[in-house]
Amino acid sequence: MTRNETVKKCLFPVGGLGTRFLPATKELPKEMLPLLDRPIISYGVDEAVSSGCTSIIFVTGRNKTSIEDYFDSSGELEQTLLERGNSALYELIKEIPEKAQFMSVRQPRPLGLGHAVLCGECLCSDSFFGIILPDDVMVSEEEPVLSQLIHVHEKHGGSVIALERVGDEDVSRYGIALVSEEIEEGVFRILDLVEKPARENAPSNLAIMGRYVLSPRIFDYLKVSGKGAGNEYQLTDALKMMIKKETLWGYAYKGQRLDCGTLQGWLDATVRLALSRNELRVVVEKALSQDTLKT
Ligand code: UTP
Repeated sequence: MTRNETVKKCLFPVGGLGTRFLPATKELPKEMLPLLDRPIISYGVDEAVSSGCTSIIFVTGRNKTSIEDYFDSSGELEQTLLERGNSALYELIKEIPEKAQFMSVRQPRPLGLGHAVLCGECLCSDSFFGIILPDDVMVSEEEPVLSQLIHVHEKHGGSVIALERVGDEDVSRYGIALVSEEIEEGVFRILDLVEKPARENAPSNLAIMGRYVLSPRIFDYLKVSGKGAGNEYQLTDALKMMIKKETLWGYAYKGQRLDCGTLQGWLDATVRLALSRNELRVVVEKALSQDTLKT
């Protein structure tokens, strides 16, 4: 895989309230819920790092300090693991903060994804940067999904958003793109974006998913786009403004998405990932063969 030399920073908006997981997320950030033996956010961070990003920027909010702590070094724990002779776990823990340079900026109030991205301006204003929404865990056998988008940016210039074909019954759950002809496999010019359209009004079945490579000019559009759907600052509204002035590409990424933003999606992701690991597959199979708990 060629190493990306152009997009070195990746922004993680993690300032949301995670209401769909309450009460679990009353004190624990949604991004720190475990997906097997790692927090959800670590999958996105690994994707960014293996895509060539060296700086990870978290836009955090209230009750999110455990995200920063997870990616910080933990001297006492490391020392204890060493003293107990557990070198495998020691190496595992020690390498977490070494993966990248971790920075964070605070979103004072959860005013929407667009607002969260704008809060990252002070750390991302000098070059094209990636955005990963960590709820969408991307599994790809070959190239990481963010890296696929970076390659589209390197080849064609401009900003790039990830697209996925969804069923007619699902278009009303996503931002949907009106696109040009496919200019090469999976690459489309975005002509318009419609947030959560009714099935009969959807311009295509291509939905925006949580991976972006954006020009820092997005911040100019975010400053003037105002509040949109749900009375929140929407990133999609700023992207719509951007299309009028500069090129925005959509890329139908290769890979599988595990939507960990809902309890059902998180459970599905947990079971599917467990089934892919031999030592956990037997646990799932055994549980399914037993009687349902009487609760
Ligand atoms: P979601 O729409 O999933 O919202 O945000 P949420 O608050 O995380 O979860 P629910 O809907 O209440 O259950 C998509 C992404 O945007 C971030 C979230 O942290 C998530 O990564 N976000 C959202 C912010 O950083 N700030 C916001 O104000 C809103």
